[in-house]
Amino acid sequence: MEEKKKVMLSGIKPSGDLTLGSYLGAIKNWAERAEQFDCFYFMADLHALTERQDPAELRRHTLEQLAQYVACGLDPEKNTLFIQSHVPAHAQLGWVINCFTMFGELSRMTQFKDKSAKNAENINGGLFTYPALMAADILIYQADYVPVGDDQRQHVELTRDVARRFNGIYGDVFKIPEPYIPKIGARIMDLLDPESKMSKSDDIGNGRIKLMDRPEDIMRKFKRAVTDSETGAGCIRFDPVNKPGVANLIQIYASCTGETFEQVEAEFAGHGYGDFKKAVGESVVEMLRPIQTEAHKLMSDKAYLDELCRKGAEKASYVAEKTLRKVYKKVGLVPKA
Ligand code: TYM
Repeated sequence: MEEKKKVMLSGIKPSGDLTLGSYLGAIKNWAERAEQFDCFYFMADLHALTERQDPAELRRHTLEQLAQYVACGLDPEKNTLFIQSHVPAHAQLGWVINCFTMFGELSRMTQFKDKSAKNAENINGGLFTYPALMAADILIYQADYVPVGDDQRQHVELTRDVARRFNGIYGDVFKIPEPYIPKIGARIMDLLDPESKMSKSDDIGNGRIKLMDRPEDIMRKFKRAVTDSETGAGCIRFDPVNKPGVANLIQIYASCTGETFEQVEAEFAGHGYGDFKKAVGESVVEMLRPIQTEAHKLMSDKAYLDELCRKGAEKASYVAEKTLRKVYKKVGLVPKA
């Protein structure tokens, strides 16, 4: 009998345009795994609601994100691609998981602390319980691996804790998932503020590269990227503590070209920052060029995207509802006659 493939699952909030951070930290890692795993990737639109969204923009970002997933190499025949809100079982299991997640655990989440500090006028219940919904997203597919960037590691750890707690009471209901974090690219920093993560929504734009940025804008942003005042041979070296801007550029270049940090250092040993920034910009432009061409084609094909959403939600729902039924039964809810 053919051995059952392990399950891989991940999602991205359609709360803004995808960035180079979301690509190198997450999507690139997904696209390389379709043959090996049974893969589920979704647009986490319910999660996006924890911050105020313009409704039309949220809809646009959600469908564009789907087109961009496909353009990044996620073949819809080999991966289940769907919109989170099209599979109501996520929210349904989310409630149950909420009831097994402790206030203290949620209070310790660094993303909650960061987001509430930045957005003091909208610290809503959803922002606080967000990791419980994320745990439900993962557990409902019995995922083995969750490919994410470094900032989501804590949420996956919490998912493991809650799943173990639940299994401890009700038996082996959930698979215990593992975070799957790339060695290079797990934490891409803002080009103008290399102490902060490159984010979809935080700044006015010059410190972050969007997946769909025009080549001239990408080159301009890299030209302005913050480095430091060191000059001379050997100034391009990987030292994230003392040289965060340069380390970030090395990381980006290594991730785009597949080189190691040492190889990048050797390649640019005799060069200054100007040459290096140009080379990093070019490597990003070349990596994104085919993705952008394909995404532009797909983004305008609404009928195709609608059909993908429909098929994806159907496939995902089948798996998700199976887990939900099992959980409802375990916790004592009366099945519908
Ligand atoms: P989100 O939308 O903030 O980010 C999406 C993915 O991109 C990664 N990422 C980065 N990686 C490296 N450098 C960066 N600068 C960078 N910025 C973002 C993130 O680590 C993430 O992998 N809660 C999740 C979405 C989610 C989810 C899930 C993920 C909802 N349910 C279930 C996995 C499984 C989030 O807000 O990611």
